[in-house]
Amino acid sequence: MNNELANTIRSKVDIVDIIGERIPLVARGKNFFGVCPFHDDTNPSMSVSREKQIYTCFSCHATGNVFTFLMDYEHMDYKQVLKYLGDKVGINTNGIHISKKTTKYDKLYEAYLLATKYYQNNLNSTIGKEAKKYLLKRNITEELIKEFEIGLSLSKKDDLTNLLTSKNYELITLNRIGLSSDNHDIYNDRIMFPLYDISGKVVGFSGRIYKDNNQNKYLNTKETEIFKKGELLYHYHIAKEECRQKKSIIIMEGFMDVIRASSIGIRNTIALMGTALTKQQINLIKRLSKKIILCLDGDDPGVHATLSIGEMLSEEDLEIKVLALPNPEDPDSFILKNGKEKFNNLLEQAIKFSDFKMQKLKEKVDFRSDEEKAEYINKVIEETSKINDEIEREVVLKRLAKEFDIRYNTLEMRMNSYLRNKPKNEKIFIQKKNPEKKDKYRKAYEQIIYFMLNNDWIITQVEKENLIFPDEKLRRTCNEIIYYYKQYGKINIADFYTYIQDKEPIREFLNNVLAGDYLETTNKEELFEYFEVTRDYCKKQEIKRLTNLMKKEVDPLEQAKIVEKIRKLRLGDK
Ligand code: CTP
Ligand code: MN
Repeated sequence: MNNELANTIRSKVDIVDIIGERIPLVARGKNFFGVCPFHDDTNPSMSVSREKQIYTCFSCHATGNVFTFLMDYEHMDYKQVLKYLGDKVGINTNGIHISKKTTKYDKLYEAYLLATKYYQNNLNSTIGKEAKKYLLKRNITEELIKEFEIGLSLSKKDDLTNLLTSKNYELITLNRIGLSSDNHDIYNDRIMFPLYDISGKVVGFSGRIYKDNNQNKYLNTKETEIFKKGELLYHYHIAKEECRQKKSIIIMEGFMDVIRASSIGIRNTIALMGTALTKQQINLIKRLSKKIILCLDGDDPGVHATLSIGEMLSEEDLEIKVLALPNPEDPDSFILKNGKEKFNNLLEQAIKFSDFKMQKLKEKVDFRSDEEKAEYINKVIEETSKINDEIEREVVLKRLAKEFDIRYNTLEMRMNSYLRNKPKNEKIFIQKKNPEKKDKYRKAYEQIIYFMLNNDWIITQVEKENLIFPDEKLRRTCNEIIYYYKQYGKINIADFYTYIQDKEPIREFLNNVLAGDYLETTNKEELFEYFEVTRDYCKKQEIKRLTNLMKKEVDPLEQAKIVEKIRKLRLGDK
């Protein structure tokens, strides 16, 4: 069984190390705390337990073991995580076979896979000659065409729609997921670039014209249930591996830029694809690296985008640099004209975002005007006040004083006034999200579940007690714990998480329990008190049910029988 291997691997790694390599953790008491990467936060609301080998976020309730953490944080699947950790601790995982988790989107992903293959075939057959010529002329080589799975849609045909309907896809589905429109192929005679989600599955296309015609340069898949533009970034699935080695991430504008960079071995890149950066995308980027290099187009819109994106990213705790290309080059055209070495040189010379900003500011100032000059100096001081390093601030001020022949003290005074107004963002308290209101019964059931996860003997007791549960999630969780215990002869939360990772309702329920304030252990006497509460609950439910039944009953004799039953229940005997 895979779980045994997984449990062995899990027992050899320390969750505190694995999470600590990715987010800063601070020890407090028995646990470690950090800023939860799974929701938007600046407070350290995630706790990591070395003893239990699990993490819990008090705010968003993200909970799990080292496997679930890596799966969610690195967007790896279970098998990849096992392999990654197996390699780390020297356990061979080659033999493992894990059945794939199926989702309701599988059929849609499959449609996109078929479409990708179909488009690729077109490009590589005689019908694709002209498109191929266009690509090769742009120096998109056969190798790149293969690597990026580039294809071709045919003109005025419904081949793709027909192909997919012949494979039992309904037209309505194809319309919904953006492969057909009005029951016809959407893409006609365009070079097709597959767009991937963050795990690398094709979820959309961008089709580019390749002949002189008056159509839009690019036609993109509409927003669908699997293609959410604000939640993906082109090339992310490749970049996430590369960024670990290169320790930085390069942001570009178009996928052509990314493809070109890849051709010279630079793959820690992602492309924005003409959309404004969303909060989710920022979170995705942050996960890859703290060092970000903005390498957008060298034209005016590119500079503008650099300024606004840089500003957005500056609000996060990141190191942002800018590789400014000469106007009007983009990375694609620059690399084509100047080659790998020149581009690498520019990459090494990338400047800090704050310097870039000052540089751009300066370009606009008319230094013959005292007013504009003063305004500029003020702005520089304001920007400099945002720098956390005292020495760095002083360096800038000294330079400014010299450049404009102004007394250092004057500048420093202004700086200090900015510093005083600087917002403080160090909050150290943990903010618990308003927990959903739970009545005493609910609490008792959840407490029992939590006891079971921490104490083998309680599992046996619960089994004997034959508890009746108010809902399916509780019942299933309890049964799974009992089942797991019988299988392995012992239980701990961290390994139990491996076991239930595909059982979403249970995991969700457990996350909720673990984020609650429950006791870890107890004695028999107290345990029985909890059992008593659950019996109470069942009685109450039964009385409710009978009361309803009685109200509906028309036969007075039957009614009387029910009343008697209720009375007995209230008295306490069965
Ligand atoms: N884009 C788009 N629709 C357009 C223009 C651009 O969706 N009409 C998106 C594309 O995803 C593109 C990105 O914005 O990758 C950057 O646009 P642009 O710089 O114009 O594209 P290039 O990468 O320069 O493409 P090409 O070299 O083929 O012109
Ligand atoms: Mn461009």
